[in-house]
Amino acid sequence: MKILVAGSGGREHALAWRLAQSPSVSKVYASPGNAGISADAECVPLIDPSPAGYLALAKSLGVNLTVVGPEAPLVAGIADAFLADGRLIVGPTAAGAEMEGSKSFSKQVMAEGGVPTARYVEVTTYDDAVKALHQFPYPVVIKADGLAAGKGVVIAEDRATAIETISQFLAGSLGEAGKRLVIEEFLVGEEVSYIVMTDGESILATEPAQDHKTIFDGDKGPNTGGMGAYCDSRILTGAQRSEVIGKIIEPTLAVLRRRGTPFSGFLFAGLMMTADGPKTLEFNCRFGDPETQPILYRMNGDLGEVLMALAQKRLAEVKVDWNTEPSICLVLAAAGYPGKVRAGDAITGFAEAEAEGAKVFHAGTKRVGSDIVTAGGRVLGVTASGATLQSAIDRAYRAASHLRFDGMQMRRDIGHKGLKRWA
Ligand code: AMP
Ligand code: GLY
Repeated sequence: MKILVAGSGGREHALAWRLAQSPSVSKVYASPGNAGISADAECVPLIDPSPAGYLALAKSLGVNLTVVGPEAPLVAGIADAFLADGRLIVGPTAAGAEMEGSKSFSKQVMAEGGVPTARYVEVTTYDDAVKALHQFPYPVVIKADGLAAGKGVVIAEDRATAIETISQFLAGSLGEAGKRLVIEEFLVGEEVSYIVMTDGESILATEPAQDHKTIFDGDKGPNTGGMGAYCDSRILTGAQRSEVIGKIIEPTLAVLRRRGTPFSGFLFAGLMMTADGPKTLEFNCRFGDPETQPILYRMNGDLGEVLMALAQKRLAEVKVDWNTEPSICLVLAAAGYPGKVRAGDAITGFAEAEAEGAKVFHAGTKRVGSDIVTAGGRVLGVTASGATLQSAIDRAYRAASHLRFDGMQMRRDIGHKGLKRWA
């Protein structure tokens, strides 16, 4: 079968790479793709990123299945457009994508399903927001309702910061996304990314991963899209997985089914493992980035077959199995990230990095003549596995040491929380 991967980041590179290795897949296209994806798939320019544009592209390429990486096309209704045209797609309809597109929506779904999450108040005015602050100790969490590319959540340590954040969000610093706010209780615990594939009924869980959201070592500095992630089966025990599926994933899917908008695709639960058990920080309507890279690195078998079964609502018929070796992805980010980034810096060392036994997934890269240059905030995802988490970490950092570009930023402590936990 022929598959189209929609998107251009490290997550999409990992998807295209695994799909290219799938026996059931004869051809992989990516649109728009990036400089690295073109080694694993045929990149097709994206002239029109709207749902109709993607639909026209899928038709002209004659693909049998489209897999959507990022949230924006899903929230815009790409799956609705494909389904209305009788085309197979992996990703929820716009109604399901609201689980990520609106924090207020996902909180209401969680309330309806009795899903454990942080206590919260929803507000749209400054006065109500300031009043709501009295209900929470510090730190308090302020969230913009809409999509904000990872910039919509602020953990305010004190009242002054909370009020400043509220004022800025409501005044439009994030555009429409911040005109409605969720103010919620700060949860303490280990953060876990647990992503399941679902056709609306059946669930096929992937392996748990842990992201590193802030730009600096030791979880310091502003939040980013994710500076690195590792995937290790010990992150959640069997009992914890059952608890997350039973108390969080199943009831959420049940609410969406009951509302007549069943969720199909990748459901990403961002969890806090608190002293009172797992609680949901957020849902995403897609695979994680950078979680996809280490998760798919550990996946055995035919991803194309699994995704086709998902799109055809017969996910219950397929199984996946996982390599037991832990894996890790280090993100190499551009100068200035997560603020305004510089583009156009030449990158060297790809062959030497991969000779260490790692895979270098591309995110923000572009080919200019014979050079590959930076073209985004997160530039590369150096991914490796090992017999132990320590050896996976060592291999990935050895590989990353060969990669160079001006202003490169990389955290030195990806995976260290795991090392400490299991020491
Ligand atoms: P979200 O986009 O909702 O996942 O928030 C981004 C990040 O903010 C999360 O990955 C957490 O690190 C942090 N965060 C969000 N909500 C909370 C909360 N209620 N308590 C503690 N940390 C949170
Ligand atoms: N790495 C977090 C996310 O994909 O939202």
